[in-house]
Amino acid sequence: MSDGSNRPRFPGEGVPRERILADLAAMQAGDVPAHGARNLRPNYYVDGEILALIDEVSAKVAEQNVLYAGSSYPSIARIEAELVEMGLDLFGAPVDAAGTVTTGGSESNFLAVKAARDLFAARRGGAGGKPELVLAHTAHPSFEKAAHLLGVRTRRARRSVGFAADVEAMAAMVGPDTIMMVGSAPPAAYGQADPIRELAAIAARHGIWFHVDSCMGGFFLPFARELGEPVPEFDFRVPGVWSLSADLHKFGYAPKGASLLLLAERAHLAFQEYRFEDWPWGLYATAGFAGSRPAAPVVAAWSVMRRLGRRGYLDVTRRTLAVKHRMMDGVRAIPGLGVVGRPDAAHFFVFGDGIDAYAVEEGLSARGWALARARLPDSFQVWPGIPHEQSAGEFLADLADVAARVREAGTRSADRAAVYAR
Ligand SMILES: Cc1ncc(COP(=O)(O)O)c(C=O)c1O
Repeated sequence: MSDGSNRPRFPGEGVPRERILADLAAMQAGDVPAHGARNLRPNYYVDGEILALIDEVSAKVAEQNVLYAGSSYPSIARIEAELVEMGLDLFGAPVDAAGTVTTGGSESNFLAVKAARDLFAARRGGAGGKPELVLAHTAHPSFEKAAHLLGVRTRRARRSVGFAADVEAMAAMVGPDTIMMVGSAPPAAYGQADPIRELAAIAARHGIWFHVDSCMGGFFLPFARELGEPVPEFDFRVPGVWSLSADLHKFGYAPKGASLLLLAERAHLAFQEYRFEDWPWGLYATAGFAGSRPAAPVVAAWSVMRRLGRRGYLDVTRRTLAVKHRMMDGVRAIPGLGVVGRPDAAHFFVFGDGIDAYAVEEGLSARGWALARARLPDSFQVWPGIPHEQSAGEFLADLADVAARVREAGTRSADRAAVYAR
């Protein structure tokens, strides 16, 4: 019986496979192509061979649940352990380090906060104090979400200094209830690495947990650094770093659903894990937030990391940096436009000097370029990668043309919203 709405009904007869594929293709027609040459929103792409490898290995483990890796799927447990070891090696972790494969950056950051919270509570013997997290102004919203869910209060710096963490303000916010300080290498906003060495030293003086959020840059910065970019040290080689998050599903080039949370001290895993036994089926022990979890992103991440190796990551990073520098130089050459700060990330932000950056973004969007707006200052983000080796010239030509029109007409976009994710 119809309720008069257009709500799709639960299917009675099974829908033919061809129809499903046709419907999916029709629905996707309106999507921004993930690896499209005009998609300058976050994108992570090496080549068709890597995509084919991801498809092939994902299909082989589509039925496997990581939750049962310890009992049914020793191969998955081993693959996760190898992924962690490869990450620990890349980030210069000490011998006693440990780590966990998670579903993404938000979960990695969540688990770091949880571990710090529970360590803090254990140290205090459960007595008093409302745990606090000290954050830079650019710290990712996932820390606010974690704090919200974990009953932790955040103290966030009110501004950045030179588009990086305000070290002095953060130092002043550390108090007796601080469980953790966070620095980002780099943060999504501005893309400029925080002074990790200075922040970690402050945390070390207070004996508190220092976490490096390298979700976005973890598999980009080490290679950019090796290629001569002026990237400061940010990993376990810096004294005072207790944990580091690095997303496999970003510059690890794995499909979505895979990240690493690495801990300098294996003993801290106990504070990260969750265990429960008092129900009819016995022990439930997980190191992460999820229960059931797909094996495909994990096995794909392991496969891509091994297929590329250091040489492959260096190669794709070199190509990405070449596009980034070409685009940034092009932007700086356009009257009325500039690049925000000194981005260490692959992406950068374009601001308007005397012209409205949002109006420029609107003009580019009308020409089919997918960009994302940001704030402080009004700007838009450009995320170059391999797909833009072909389109960088066309982008810069469109950008120069749109900027000139905006400048001449004094156009201002009526829409002032900046959206990171919705
Ligand atoms: C610096 C940083 N931290 C955390 C995250 C959250 O990662 P995810 O979206 O995988 O949860 C991101 C995402 O872009 C990020 O750039």
